[in-house]
Amino acid sequence: MTGVSYAMAATKSGGPEVLERIELAVPPPGPGEVQIAHRAIGVNFIDCYFRSGLYPWPDPRRLIPGAEASGVISAVGAGVTGLKSGDRVAYTLPNNAYASARNIAAAHVVKLPDGISFEAAASVMLKGLTARYLLKDSYELQPGQKVLFHAAAGGVGLLAGQWMKALGVAPVGTAGGPEKCTLALSHGFAEMIDYGQDDFLEAARRLVPEGYHVVYDSIGKDTLLTSLKCLRLHGTLVNFGQSSGAVTDFRVSDLAAGSFHLTRPVLFHFTSDRKWLERAADELFGLILDGRIRVQIHSAPLSSAATVHADLEGRRTTGSTVLIP
Ligand SMILES: NC(=O)c1ccc[n+]([C@@H]2O[C@H](COP(=O)([O-])OP(=O)(O)OC[C@H]3O[C@@H](n4cnc5c(N)ncnc54)[C@H](OP(=O)(O)O)[C@@H]3O)[C@@H](O)[C@H]2O)c1
Repeated sequence: MTGVSYAMAATKSGGPEVLERIELAVPPPGPGEVQIAHRAIGVNFIDCYFRSGLYPWPDPRRLIPGAEASGVISAVGAGVTGLKSGDRVAYTLPNNAYASARNIAAAHVVKLPDGISFEAAASVMLKGLTARYLLKDSYELQPGQKVLFHAAAGGVGLLAGQWMKALGVAPVGTAGGPEKCTLALSHGFAEMIDYGQDDFLEAARRLVPEGYHVVYDSIGKDTLLTSLKCLRLHGTLVNFGQSSGAVTDFRVSDLAAGSFHLTRPVLFHFTSDRKWLERAADELFGLILDGRIRVQIHSAPLSSAATVHADLEGRRTTGSTVLIP
């Protein structure tokens, strides 16, 4: 039976104000799909990249942002095995999550263990699995290695800080302002640089004069070239975002300053491997259940998506924000 969902959608790219409430028909799930009644929806920078038009829309007529959510299966399409109505589940996949219900291919969905709340799951499917590939796949961190991680008090940052501590790493983080620095220090970071106050290159070099094995940079335009200067010889720069804007002035020859390595990974190239998704989600849920990762969650109604976008882009958030339909 076709049901009705409500969603936050845009018909043109632009600022947060382009997001409007719409009603949406949700048909029965097709073959290989499940229908999920959402309970919590994670907000991520990628939602802003799509909304603003930085990333092209899959359908130029309309965008429903949202790339991670949790909920309860309300219907199952033909050929789906291992999932049934009533199961508590979560997923990460670009777009269409800012809705009270949706259909999605079962291959993207994982079951939630008892003890993982809908809010926690919707906070970590995208951000926590990102932390996982950053620390174990894009670069395989070893205990004691020197790490610099930008935007340490953000959604990915607070999860990554705790995961690095669990791996025996004492990371240095950067954040804008003393409150964010204090928060990051209580989420696994051993040292913090307030790049609102300090020149982060000078501070990073003072803390680790020999240079870092790896720098994780999701800020892009404002930091990338300086991040390279923080590396030791043969160090690795992992650029995984552009919160300050796209990098336009990088040249391949910049890597010659230290025989550096550079990678620009994307989560969905890891989660498209079902085995990786299951293993990484098990690991992440395990770390939350045994208390080594705490999730910092702020909740807001789904209808307030525009305000939440403005806060995220305005650097006024810490940790994860979830929208509740
Ligand atoms: N490639 C991937 O697979 C992947 C997956 C997930 C996330 N990401 C990227 O990871 C980053 C973090 O995502 P998130 O959702 O967890 O966001 P977030 O870190 O919670 O928020 C972004 C933070 O970036 C910092 N920032 C620095 N300059 C900024 C500017 N000019 N405008 C806005 N923010 C600025 C701000 O922290 P301070 O005030 O402390 O500087 C801000 O809070 C994003 O760039 C996102 O695109 C990439």
